[in-house]
Amino acid sequence: MTGPAAAPACPELFTWEFASDPYPAYAWLREHAPVHRTRLPSGVEAWLVTRYTDARQALADTRLSKNPVHHSEAAHGKGKVGIPGERGANLMTHLLNIDPPDHTRLRRLVSKAFTPRRIARFAPRVQELTDAFIDSFAERGEADLIHEFAFPLPIYAICDLLGVPREDQDDFRDWAGMMIRHGGGPRGGVARSVKKMRGYLAELIHRKRESLGDEGADDLISGLIRASDHGEHLTENEAAAMAFILLFAGFETTVNLIGNGVYQLLRHPEQRRLLQKAAAEGDEELLATGVEELLRYDGPVELATWRFATRDLALGGQRIAEGDPVLVVLAAADRDPERFPGPDVLDLSRRDNQHLGYGHGIHYCLGAPLARLEGRTAIAGLLTRLPDLRLGADPDELRWRGGLIMRGLRALPVEFTPVRR
Ligand code: HEM
Repeated sequence: MTGPAAAPACPELFTWEFASDPYPAYAWLREHAPVHRTRLPSGVEAWLVTRYTDARQALADTRLSKNPVHHSEAAHGKGKVGIPGERGANLMTHLLNIDPPDHTRLRRLVSKAFTPRRIARFAPRVQELTDAFIDSFAERGEADLIHEFAFPLPIYAICDLLGVPREDQDDFRDWAGMMIRHGGGPRGGVARSVKKMRGYLAELIHRKRESLGDEGADDLISGLIRASDHGEHLTENEAAAMAFILLFAGFETTVNLIGNGVYQLLRHPEQRRLLQKAAAEGDEELLATGVEELLRYDGPVELATWRFATRDLALGGQRIAEGDPVLVVLAAADRDPERFPGPDVLDLSRRDNQHLGYGHGIHYCLGAPLARLEGRTAIAGLLTRLPDLRLGADPDELRWRGGLIMRGLRALPVEFTPVRR
């Protein structure tokens, strides 16, 4: 006699196989354990939230704090939460680690400097960088799109936007390169790079403050200093932490938007042809919906950053205790069939695409207009300049990075007919 069928076991999370395709495991969680307690590879225990409705609620829930002081004692003691090296470099007071009212004040200040007008004015520079990096490998007929294109483009773009002098930008490229290796580099390398970056930014802020006239330079750091000088308070440490979080939040995310996006286009030839036509004809609308769909389908931020329960609460029918960490799985929520019809289909003309790839609520991505500009320009540039772009390796041979928050490829080898300049 057979008893009732046992519920299938929870698939293994955070293995290498999981990293290459986490979506089946997320589908299982959404269905069987939508708010699921798990032990992360770091040893910290956290709740994973996978359904769209719960995810959206959690991202905007004021009972969930961004401040790590609310982390329960046992887990906090392990010191594994946050950006490696940020504690030592005194960079903790940034937007993703604080709650209102401090968050409201800092976000208002940075929003004054990070305006849509400033981003729109930046479009020619993003195009120039896109063309220059494509030029650098176009004659070879092959390239690694992560290292030669997706990685350098955003780092030079953000450096320009912040006002890091061109002669210092290669240092940033090196420090950022170390940060993106996630422990793959020499021991302590990430912490050392974060510290060097922090030291450099503090000095740059100081120099810019000294030389700032009312009509001074038009870069973002000068804009931040000016905003703080007009009545509202921004300490030098807060300004350095702000510059750092703009770099940190805006760099690897954009690398992976370009990397994951191009990879998925190469795996979906019909959709790629659609976007290629849109890019050639300057169809901005399809380019825009296309990049949003690439973000929903395989976005760069797999899990939102840490949140901590400030009191006992219920989420998705599950009881969460005060001090427990909560991780919202954006990649799972954005494939929820309750919200997106045919969620596992890549449909670049998808409408009603309110994905959570940029988050939701007061921490909604500040850099979304810049990310959209960079994503559209980079992907359209590649498709128009290298029209027969194809994968240079079997998809099974590609390796994904193992980090918790970000989803991205280690390398993306491609081939194409060489193009003379
Ligand atoms: C495709 C690229 C990008 C994606 C997918 C992305 C995604 C996100 C997400 C999901 C959040 C919310 C995290 C949470 O609530 O835990 C966020 C916040 C943030 N992002 Fe982005 N981001 C991107 C690019 C950028 C860029 C280019 C910048 C700036 C240069 C930037 C700056 C920020 C900042 C400062 C925050 C914190 C906002 C706050 O706490 O108020 N991001 N981003």
